[in-house]
Amino acid sequence: MKFTNSQNIYKEAIKVIPGGVNSPVRAFKSVNKEFPIFIKSGKGSKIYDEDNNEYLDYICSWGPMILGHNHEKIMVGIREAIELGSTFGLPTKGEVELAELVISCFPSMDMVRFTTSGTEATMTAIRLARAYTNRNKILKFNGCYHGHSDSLLVSSGSGLLTDGYQDSNGITEGTLKDTLTADFGDIETVNRILRTKEVSCVIIEPIPANMGLINTEKKFLEELREICTETETLLIFDEVISGFRLALGGVQELFNIKPDLTTLGKIIGGGYPVGALGGKKEIMNMLAPVGRVYHAGTLSGNPISVRAGFDTISYLIENKNIIYKQLEENVNYLAENIQKIANKYSVNICINKVGSLFTIFFTDLDKVSTLEDSKNSSDLNYSIYFNTMLQGGIVTPPSKYEAHFISFAHTQEDLDKTLEILELAFKKISNRD
Ligand SMILES: Cc1ncc(COP(=O)(O)O)c(C=O)c1O
Repeated sequence: MKFTNSQNIYKEAIKVIPGGVNSPVRAFKSVNKEFPIFIKSGKGSKIYDEDNNEYLDYICSWGPMILGHNHEKIMVGIREAIELGSTFGLPTKGEVELAELVISCFPSMDMVRFTTSGTEATMTAIRLARAYTNRNKILKFNGCYHGHSDSLLVSSGSGLLTDGYQDSNGITEGTLKDTLTADFGDIETVNRILRTKEVSCVIIEPIPANMGLINTEKKFLEELREICTETETLLIFDEVISGFRLALGGVQELFNIKPDLTTLGKIIGGGYPVGALGGKKEIMNMLAPVGRVYHAGTLSGNPISVRAGFDTISYLIENKNIIYKQLEENVNYLAENIQKIANKYSVNICINKVGSLFTIFFTDLDKVSTLEDSKNSSDLNYSIYFNTMLQGGIVTPPSKYEAHFISFAHTQEDLDKTLEILELAFKKISNRD
């Protein structure tokens, strides 16, 4: 497989865009490839690069493309919306219809406000929590990613972890001081911190997907809900990834736990820029222009995103009994067979999966003597895996900390091709010892 055009575009890109990418997780550095592939188009489960290589896609734009690329039904709506005009800076009926649809899937929400990205949604949610509780501090979990606003870039997972650090530079001491952290699952630390009654909110990815995928214990979230209620701390579920992906009503539906505020993004824009925060009326009505917590956006709730989101969610609702079952069965099929291949070649892995998400962790603890060696070994194995898959026409996340996403467009043939190439990758990994 040749990547000549991508390489040439990258050479131009790094002159005008830092690192040649507009989001660090698109870089291929951590998987030992000098430049990323530049994508030209997508259809169904496949994407195509500037060298006309075809790939099966396990990134799905990091979540939004649950129905696959350029789904015909969604395209019809988008074309209609584009014909009517792109953005007006005035409200449109579509925003109200999308709000009603989202609320119908999330019983914890009385009201919802749209933003242009998940980052804005989480940033606004914590501002709202501070105003509502009159407390400054927030609590987040190490390794959970909630976008790139200052307060939330502490002990973040995802792109920062991939680049080997935890916190961003350029954030003031004061902001850092107000963001407290705990390890995921450490309910005792959470309890101790919240009893001080200085914390406005706890924000959590209820099933984290930005430090690899973690299978959260329901009990942990139940206890978290209880302590938040007792200490009058708001509980924010960041369901930017999990909302509409793991179930229509996200993790809160799966576990039947109601947060005070929820943040959404990705799928609710059907592949176009979007974010949202929603919750109880008395909290939401503190937002301007009703209240004095400011949030705004030139493109918030823009008509194209709103139409793509409305049609995507409507399709998911109409076909929910088929879609979520098929997604889960497909991931189970992949996971079972990946484990069999790993056993065949004695490659140590741990696969975590929930719904349409999974992560393969390469674990070599028994073959190496130190944690550092183990990290290096798992980095190397992941990079062999990534590059073999790429050469075989399959795009997996260019970071071991990101989850694999599948779409409803992935077919049995796609899954079998994936396993065939994966076997080559695991064979190489086993031969490297
Ligand atoms: C859980 C979670 N929250 C928030 C965000 C930020 O969303 P956006 O990239 O749209 O700003 C992300 C992005 O990946 C995410 O995974």
